[in-house]
Amino acid sequence: MSDEFPANHAPRCPVSERGHERGSPPRSAPRESPRRSAPVAPGRLPLLGHMWPLMRDPFTFFTSLRHRGDIVRIYMGRRPIHFLTTARLAHQILVENARSFDKGMVYDAVHPLSGNGLLASGRELHRRQRRIIQPLFHKDMIKVYAETMSGEAQSLADSWRPGQRVDLDQVMIELTLTTLVRSMFSGRLPRSVVRDILHSLPLFTRGMVARTVLPAWLCRVTGFDRRFLAAAGRLRSAVDAVVRSGQPDGVEGSDLLSFLRAARDPETGQTMSDELIRDELVSIMMAGTETTGATLAWTFHELTEHPAVEQRLRAELRDVLGGRPAGYDDLADLRYTRAVVNEVLRRYSLLMLFRRTTTPVVLGGVALPAGADVMFSQSDLHRDAGAFPEPDAFSPERWLVDRDSLPPREAFIPFGAGNRRCIGEGYAQAEAVIALATILTRWRLVPVPGHVRRVAAAMPRPRSLPMTVTPVADEGSVPHV
Ligand code: HEM
Repeated sequence: MSDEFPANHAPRCPVSERGHERGSPPRSAPRESPRRSAPVAPGRLPLLGHMWPLMRDPFTFFTSLRHRGDIVRIYMGRRPIHFLTTARLAHQILVENARSFDKGMVYDAVHPLSGNGLLASGRELHRRQRRIIQPLFHKDMIKVYAETMSGEAQSLADSWRPGQRVDLDQVMIELTLTTLVRSMFSGRLPRSVVRDILHSLPLFTRGMVARTVLPAWLCRVTGFDRRFLAAAGRLRSAVDAVVRSGQPDGVEGSDLLSFLRAARDPETGQTMSDELIRDELVSIMMAGTETTGATLAWTFHELTEHPAVEQRLRAELRDVLGGRPAGYDDLADLRYTRAVVNEVLRRYSLLMLFRRTTTPVVLGGVALPAGADVMFSQSDLHRDAGAFPEPDAFSPERWLVDRDSLPPREAFIPFGAGNRRCIGEGYAQAEAVIALATILTRWRLVPVPGHVRRVAAAMPRPRSLPMTVTPVADEGSVPHV
């Protein structure tokens, strides 16, 4: 297998711009003199700014901004944010001009939880820590974690009984958290802590959005901040206790904690403080759980909505796996399964990604001072018809074309891009494919009729996804809804 996850990506391609024809040459950056300011989105209210459409239905709000220009000013309360509507500008802030930006509002929102961990650390610390931690996500390590991924998916599949109703959204989050705890923490987190994390996760992930978007006073008076900070404090203390507890019997020294303990700064030779180790552990746990869990839950949902896709996927599973669980070595052959996961990642990406300028910058012809907040929505960019024809269609086939016909690489960024690109990308993709394939080999999932709604957490997740499970060998016994 190549260094990358079996590729669904095109070679470096022109950046998608709304309205340009696919395959046409990239529009070079316009050499205009900076405009004075970006247009303000309509519907701004005094004090609230654009909070109402943003909180009520962010997906529709972001889509409505596309027609206003490639950079539009919106207001979160009184705070102006420059919203980018093109992949070209997103690429500029994440990659080409990344040095002029830091994490900004995300840092403010998540710092009480993940401290100086990778998720929001400042540039110098981030560069050093990323270099140290990166080897833990090398494909040789993913191969080791894949055994746990497969084992956990099998245990889950073993635990179900024919006709049982499962709350798939919750079950998939539990699966990803348990897998992460077993694979990277050698199962060191006590059960009680894992239960507490599961209980607090919605508060954390929705909290990050609310603390980023809502004015500070509103988070305070609603008691929201108090609950978020209390849960964050509990998690940090629990992880602190694990960090301080040392090496339990039977742990080989190859998990994340042992690795961080042993790591030395290549320049100074210093080891990491316990506080920084805790921040890195919490960062990875927070970044790696709900994201992959929601991706899996949405995948099962999309399959029930698209029987032809499910049929083709099952045919591939029968051919490649012949009824056994999936493992790392199957990833290359599970081509259609990977395309399905890719298509889900396209449709259900992070809602908002923020940056803040650290120096004056000209972006899309607009002159921004240092300290200006900038954001874009991956969910929105991934529905750009210029890069993804029929963007509302669920079509894994769009990923099964020859390399030159794939959507432009810069237009598809579910894991971000540049130096802050997701460190867990290979882990997440392997886990999603292995868990999906292993579960579907045993079970068919039939939705309990009801209303599926997206919840605007950091990664949109279904509010509720109840399903009934039927053994694959016994498909006739429960009616397909
Ligand atoms: C489908 C699953 C996932 C998605 C869609 C996802 C998405 C992302 C995105 C978009 C970023 C970049 C944020 C930015 O630029 O501001 C990111 C960063 C990060 N992700 Fe993921 N992620 C996923 C799974 C994981 C997993 C499984 C882990 C760890 C086990 C993980 C750990 C991290 C960390 C530590 C960062 C910060 C990286 C840095 O700044 O150096 N993620 N993720």
